[in-house]
Amino acid sequence: MPGGVLVVDFGAQYSQLIARRIRECRVFSAVVPHDAPPEEILALHPSGLVLSGGPASVYAPGAPALDPRLLELGIPVLGICYGQQAMTLALGGEVARTGAGEYGKTPITVRSREGMFHALPAEQCWMSHRDAVSRAPEGFTVTAETASSPVAAMENPQRRMYGVQFHPEVVHTPFGNDLLKWFLFEACDCSPTWTATHLIEEQVERIRAQVGDARAICGLSGGVDSAVAALIVHRAIGDRLTCVFVDHGLMRHNEGEQVEAAFGKHFGVPLVHVRAQEHFEAALAGITEPEEKRKTIGREFIRIFEREADKLKDARFLVQGTLYSDVIESGSRDAAKIKSHHNVGGLPEDMVVELIEPLRQLFKDEVRVVGEELGLPENMVWRQPFPGPGLAIRIIGEVTRERLDILRQADFVLQEEIRRAGLYRELWQSFAVLPAIKSVGVQGDERTYAYPIIIRAVTSDDAMTADWARIPYDILERISNRIINEVDGVNRVALDLTSKPPGTIEWE
Ligand code: XMP
Repeated sequence: MPGGVLVVDFGAQYSQLIARRIRECRVFSAVVPHDAPPEEILALHPSGLVLSGGPASVYAPGAPALDPRLLELGIPVLGICYGQQAMTLALGGEVARTGAGEYGKTPITVRSREGMFHALPAEQCWMSHRDAVSRAPEGFTVTAETASSPVAAMENPQRRMYGVQFHPEVVHTPFGNDLLKWFLFEACDCSPTWTATHLIEEQVERIRAQVGDARAICGLSGGVDSAVAALIVHRAIGDRLTCVFVDHGLMRHNEGEQVEAAFGKHFGVPLVHVRAQEHFEAALAGITEPEEKRKTIGREFIRIFEREADKLKDARFLVQGTLYSDVIESGSRDAAKIKSHHNVGGLPEDMVVELIEPLRQLFKDEVRVVGEELGLPENMVWRQPFPGPGLAIRIIGEVTRERLDILRQADFVLQEEIRRAGLYRELWQSFAVLPAIKSVGVQGDERTYAYPIIIRAVTSDDAMTADWARIPYDILERISNRIINEVDGVNRVALDLTSKPPGTIEWE
């Protein structure tokens, strides 16, 4: 995509966030691996490069190296944290192991306002590093410093090279966005013209080339991700796409029917409804370990898709609505593995279909923008995320039909009350969890020994981090009363007060 700014990834959890911040400025951006050959990078005609941070010390054995040829492309470069350090070493400066790291909010002193700090009220930035640049390379001016970073920022306007030790992409660097804008619009001379439509056009072209005359199937869940992925592919290859909705019996109340009605009728994309409740019930019997549950569901999902693909001649491709957050949390190259999202890490190794994942570089809120652009109805665009493995990962311990019924009913009540209170859209997710314990209660003068239901409600921008939602007490009271009165087998309601990190949004 001509005119974009590429993020060269040195293994930071933040690489995609940088790309996203750039796209928010309406400049195209994508992440490329640090060892991508310079010819490949040049072929993308970038207007600039951002070298990302990374988890390792530049001196650690096997630390991801910066190909010095990337600094000879004649386009502006901004190095962030590890990126700045790698650039410094490549250009003959020095990086020191300072011994004392800098983490979190840090006061910063600006030394020159000639370049990137022009008109920036920079007083505080967000740091996360141990090593630090101790001597800038020749030709660079040091433009900012902090207590532990003598070179918190450096610039070489002749070569259009810039480096910062802090993280402009996180909200805790209050001037970070303005600094990125300065790099995009002043240093790289980009124009703020990129929109979600460009992404659709680009993906449509790419998918046409990938699929050729073959057919594809799409696993539709009813959520916004798979719906948007399906519509993009449908735009690319028309009726050679068939959507398959596998009802694994782990859906919420009435969800299967809603998916069929909404997607099949509204969009006119061929839809096969596979009823596989009993199949999954048998596959999950006796399984209590979360990763085993996830892998089992992922594997059975794919097997069913493959069977359906076999029935459709030439369906060699499988469309998935995988998002960037699914990819990073399943452990990409250098990032730590948190859990296997069923559509990434849970895939069997001998899978015979090829994947099409048009949303792999996007965050949820970006997908929603694309969805609106594609004309998806508002209630689908704004549906709260629901995990592929469904209610199975909200039932701690064994998934049985009885426990599924309890959770589904409790979840239905909770959703109804959250919507009634007008909170549905402002919460990232709100749902019920069924733990594997029982407690004693008393109902109508009778002793009960039954399950509790845990209410989990979070706010988030992108699922990478989340905070527990402050739901008003009177709404919690109504939810609790209704769940206990209406759901057999439940005698207690608890509230989860954990942010992410240290918790994850789902319980398994
Ligand atoms: P966690 O629990 O990792 O979840 O904080 C982050 C977001 O991802 C959703 N999630 C999944 N989505 N397949 C999906 O499609 C999965 O296996 C999966 N696991 C978690 C979760 O609901 C939250 O929005």
